[in-house]
Amino acid sequence: MTTDTAERTRTLALEGVTKRFPTGTVALTGVSLSTGAGEFVTVVGPSGCGKSTLLRLASGLETATSGTIEVSARAVSYVFQDATLLEWRSAMRNVELVGELRGVPRDERRERARAALDLVGLTGFEAQHPRQLSGGMRMRVSLARALVAEPDLALFDEPFGALDEITRLQMQTELQRIFRQERFAGLFITHSVSEAVYLSTRVLVMSGRPGRIVAEVQIPWDYPRPPELRYSAEFGEITGRVSTALGEHS
Ligand SMILES: Nc1ncnc2c1ncn2[C@@H]1O[C@H](COP(=O)(O)OP(=O)(O)O)[C@@H](O)[C@H]1O
Ligand SMILES: [Mg+2]
Repeated sequence: MTTDTAERTRTLALEGVTKRFPTGTVALTGVSLSTGAGEFVTVVGPSGCGKSTLLRLASGLETATSGTIEVSARAVSYVFQDATLLEWRSAMRNVELVGELRGVPRDERRERARAALDLVGLTGFEAQHPRQLSGGMRMRVSLARALVAEPDLALFDEPFGALDEITRLQMQTELQRIFRQERFAGLFITHSVSEAVYLSTRVLVMSGRPGRIVAEVQIPWDYPRPPELRYSAEFGEITGRVSTALGEHS
């Protein structure tokens, strides 16, 4: 699945973006950020600060009130908190749907779906229907569906928020392994400071509503990152810096 990697552009740039809804709610003000090749950028911020709005703007689902948004990615994938699978389709057929909608020939889209399911550790579960799968496995199918499109840019809106703690940690480990292998540019949203620090090359901290970026923390470690990294002193020091920035602006 890593074929034309070098040709992928994978960039997103927001400059001075403000979003005011028709209700008068100002969700974001003066937000500037970019994600480049090989970067996994996570935005942490309090509930209601405009994180989902930010991702919806990046994906083109919403338009900005002012400011500019530039997406120079050939393919963009979106992963939501809810796995949003079709219950009447098997795991395989859920992932294949992406190719079906694009008119990819059957054999090719089967092969790609199988490779994507393998990438997320679901080989052997292709024929299962969503209700036969655990929450973590459903999220894996959702991830496979996002990856089968070979995105240059992948947007994640609190994808692990509904999972239990153990499954959540497993999914974080899987995602950074997949990121290392696939090298899409990532923009990830979470409430969880440790999730942000563990996954990312860079963490952006948002203030309470109206959301704006108040701090940026570079994360120093290469991938893959061992799960035990979370218990190191350096990890504690960095999460402390992010938490402090969050606390000062919520
Ligand atoms: N379509 C909408 N119309 C009006 N207000 C909205 C809309 N979408 C979100 N909001 C408001 O914008 C603010 C930010 O929402 P959201 O981006 O969902 O926050 P977060 O994802 O950080 O919890 C909230 O006050 C929310 O009620
Ligand atoms: Mg949200």
